[in-house]
Amino acid sequence: MDNRITKAVIPVAGFGTRLLPVTKTQPKEMLPLVDKPAVQYVVEEAVASGIESILFVTGRGKRAIEDYFDYAVELENELHNKGREKLLEEIRRVVDAVDIYYVRQKLPRGLGDAVLRARGFVGDEAFAILLADDIVVAEKPCLAQMLELYAEEPALYLAVMPVPHEEVSQWGIIKGREIAPSLYEVEDLIEKPSLAEAPSNLAIVGRYLIKPSLFAIIENIAPGKGGEIQLTDALREILRKERIYAYRFVGQHFGVGDKESYLKANVAFALQREEFAAPMRDFLRKLLEGKEG
Ligand code: UTP
Repeated sequence: MDNRITKAVIPVAGFGTRLLPVTKTQPKEMLPLVDKPAVQYVVEEAVASGIESILFVTGRGKRAIEDYFDYAVELENELHNKGREKLLEEIRRVVDAVDIYYVRQKLPRGLGDAVLRARGFVGDEAFAILLADDIVVAEKPCLAQMLELYAEEPALYLAVMPVPHEEVSQWGIIKGREIAPSLYEVEDLIEKPSLAEAPSNLAIVGRYLIKPSLFAIIENIAPGKGGEIQLTDALREILRKERIYAYRFVGQHFGVGDKESYLKANVAFALQREEFAAPMRDFLRKLLEGKEG
């Protein structure tokens, strides 16, 4: 049995209402962290983890993503003519790194429904799902960490991280039994529970390793929280038949799906960049001291 996963699905068809008004005409996945769109970090993580082809589940108003992962001939000619080869090489790198496929989710009926659109792409292979809402900075990419576990034991895997108890109702939360350091056998999962309902504070982060058997389950689940076809509900269903592991990854997580997290991520990413670290620190210090920047 081949224990390698080479296909990844990145659903990008959601409305991004938490980031309105900017997401009225701009896909949230294209919002920048410093100078790269959020989705690029996730594509780079997938490529660095050995993924060979990626399917974007896209929707109306998301064409900027397709254009971004394609050649921009006029711009590239201009950069070449001006001798700006380094920049040219940088914008080409991610475009040439991986085969990208697209399918449309005609209506954003929920993450589970978006994943169902990937059925033809994945065929009978296991695959990864990455959400561009979740960015993980790690020495070994979060997905690569999970794929190592999969290679040892092919099963379903979810990335999890502990969140403050007062935030559990913003996440999908697992109930799990720790079977090895950082590895839990999932006993239950619940989408956006109240504090009283939450079985733990281990939140599901947007990295999943999934088998195609999930498709038939998604097809038959009823809309859940928010009237959407929820991936978490489908995973809960499959738990009756298959083992799911939750893995507490090593790395620093940044959410970019809501305004506060997005702003914090931008500051953190700027501080992590060599050319901006010193001026940003200086600017922030002065700003916090109440002086003009
Ligand atoms: P979110 O739950 O963040 O939903 O989706 P959203 O619509 O993007 O944002 P809000 O909640 O309205 O602010 C998580 C990921 O799943 C995709 C989104 O694009 C995002 O990357 N998604 C969600 C779909 O592709 N289709 C859907 O129907 C829902």
